[in-house]
Amino acid sequence: MSAFFASLCVPGTFGGLSLHGAEILSVSASLVTNYTASVAAVFRITQPSTEVQNATFCNVTVTYTHPGQNDNIITEAWLPTEDWNGRFLAVGGGGFAAGRGFLSFENMKGAIGDGYATITTDSGFGDAQEPTPWALVSPGNVNLYNLQNLAHVSLNDEAIIGKALIKNLYGKGPEYSYWNGCSQGGRQGLALAQRYPKAYDGISAAAPAIYWSDFFTSSHWPQQFMNNLGTYPYGCEIDAITAAAVAVCDGLDGVVDGIIADPDACLARFDPFSLVGKVIDCNQTIDGSQVDISHAAAATVNATWHGASKPNGTPIWPGVLPGADLTGLSQTFPGQVSLAATNCTTGTCVGAPIFLTVKWLQMFLAKDPSFDVANLTHVEYDRLIHAGKQQFASFMDTADPDLSDFRDVGGKMITFHGLADNVIPPGGSEKYYQEVSALLPDTPSFYRYFEVPGLGHCFGGRAGQPSSLFEQLRAWVENGTAPGQTPIDVNAADGTVHHRILCPYPHVSVFDEGCGDAAAVACWSCGERGGSSRFLKRSDNQTGL
Ligand SMILES: *[C@@H]1O[C@H](CO)[C@@H](O)[C@H](O)[C@H]1NC(C)=O
Ligand SMILES: *[C@@H]1O[C@H](CO)[C@@H](O)[C@H](O)[C@H]1NC(C)=O
Ligand SMILES: *[C@@H]1O[C@H](CO)[C@@H](O)[C@H](O)[C@H]1NC(C)=O
Ligand SMILES: *[C@@H]1O[C@H](CO)[C@@H](O)[C@H](O)[C@H]1NC(C)=O
Ligand SMILES: *[C@@H]1O[C@H](CO)[C@@H](O)[C@H](O)[C@H]1NC(C)=O
Ligand SMILES: *[C@@H]1O[C@H](CO)[C@@H](O)[C@H](O)[C@H]1NC(C)=O
Ligand SMILES: *[C@@H]1O[C@H](CO)[C@@H](O)[C@H](O)[C@H]1NC(C)=O
Ligand SMILES: *[C@@H]1O[C@H](CO)[C@@H](O)[C@H](O)[C@H]1NC(C)=O
Repeated sequence: MSAFFASLCVPGTFGGLSLHGAEILSVSASLVTNYTASVAAVFRITQPSTEVQNATFCNVTVTYTHPGQNDNIITEAWLPTEDWNGRFLAVGGGGFAAGRGFLSFENMKGAIGDGYATITTDSGFGDAQEPTPWALVSPGNVNLYNLQNLAHVSLNDEAIIGKALIKNLYGKGPEYSYWNGCSQGGRQGLALAQRYPKAYDGISAAAPAIYWSDFFTSSHWPQQFMNNLGTYPYGCEIDAITAAAVAVCDGLDGVVDGIIADPDACLARFDPFSLVGKVIDCNQTIDGSQVDISHAAAATVNATWHGASKPNGTPIWPGVLPGADLTGLSQTFPGQVSLAATNCTTGTCVGAPIFLTVKWLQMFLAKDPSFDVANLTHVEYDRLIHAGKQQFASFMDTADPDLSDFRDVGGKMITFHGLADNVIPPGGSEKYYQEVSALLPDTPSFYRYFEVPGLGHCFGGRAGQPSSLFEQLRAWVENGTAPGQTPIDVNAADGTVHHRILCPYPHVSVFDEGCGDAAAVACWSCGERGGSSRFLKRSDNQTGL
């Protein structure tokens, strides 16, 4: 059979493709043989690491346009020609990339290793990693068709194309279809559940970049705050305050492991200003001298944890939480961004804003690539956030709580969010889960959300990946078995690896002190959360697990 499918790996097999609203421009197909790859768990998000050996698949690319919109979109599908598991697994992108970049390809390699037919789309942006090449049709004018492709249109196209290619090659469509993504990829998963409920049977959508127009602009808040202060602390000052918060709040859950399990309780209990005046070692000073922790450093940390607010103090959006890496100086995974980073290499510290956040402010809000974000007043910044919501919420927010269509066609969704996420505040995932639950009391029957203490953005930090979640999603979709909990490994501060569990929100994993061993999974169970909620009041009907 395998030689048969391999022999079908020619463009003619995939002729006759049609997609409402699109014109197919070209189809390529070529057999990839002896494919070998080693894929880390961090890139598979909810699946374990894997070694792919000697895989054979048909690489099919479809290039198409939406006539009149001047776009040119490429989807790339990898279809196993032997040992296809009968399933379709589409992967998400990251940052401003819909897919077809490093993160997506790593995820696809793992999917191929597991026998899935898999696909990614570039949403028309080629290999652009940031929006400058595609954001504007002309200075002052956003390319709304491109933004719409990123937001959702290309995602439904991708699902339709993927299923059609599968049918062309194997003579039948997939038995089950899945989505797996984090960050932008998590937002994409939610966009699909909200707008195209029939596209996927199972969706794994981690650390989703939802409430985009609020959270994305708010990620500039720590820099805006420092600009308004006119003072930029050393990273060592900020890191020392984070370390003190961990020291104070670590044990609140009964376990001292280097992780703040309840960062909301920590926010209420720990005062960053209590550190002001403390003398610390600092390796960002030119001469390696010690520094006093400044009031400006404490105020910046306080502002970063509490999140953006209006000039009158009204909160706009929650911040990243105590325990998150605010400076990037000690990050486990290079390349991740940090909201309150400063650059002190010249001897005078300056703000180090996040590149992609600055691009959002420049290209979409100011519509001017040379717009200077460093001299915005608080009032101007607040107006930009508001204007951004007015213009782009319907494209990018991806926060429609009405998942009833997805529920009614039998869809199942799992999301998780690291509580030490240093990029996207976990408050957005919690808010969304609460809003869906408020609308649909049977939410746990089709959608479950797991908070992950100690995990950074998608990966990194003291927590490992919830690598069993994807198989649990499959069991939920295919066998009706909902995930009551999921295993997680934790790298405790003492160097040991702990085996624990995560629980579906609003439950939390609780350590049984009588049981004694925080490293043993048997000493953890799912229980009620003690801490306060960042948004709505928790309602009792959410506990129907
Ligand atoms: C297949 O790939 C492996 C590992 O990359 C390599 O050692 C081997 O020579 C390849 N075999 C063929 C037939 O290309
Ligand atoms: C690799 O896969 C090809 C195609 O299925 C097969 O012919 C070959 O025997 C495999 N090689 C090894 C070393 O498994
Ligand atoms: C699949 O084909 C496209 C188009 O030729 C090519 O750009 C891409 O690198 C190929 N991918 C693999 C894994 O061979
Ligand atoms: C800087 O200081 C921190 C905290 O004291 C330390 O963990 C880190 O290793 C130092 N980095 C360098 C490059 O010296
Ligand atoms: C800390 O931030 C909160 C929220 O913005 C603010 O209300 C409070 O005044 C800040 N604390 C200090 C001491 O500046
Ligand atoms: C910090 O600033 C220096 C001097 O302007 C610059 O060369 C360097 O690239 C900056 N580093 C980062 C990480 O931005
Ligand atoms: C920021 O700079 C621009 C150009 O340099 C100027 O037009 C604008 O008025 C400045 N805004 C503030 C708040 O200083
Ligand atoms: C569904 O249940 C069957 C029978 O117990 C089992 O063989 C299969 O692996 C399960 N499928 C999933 C995705 O868990």
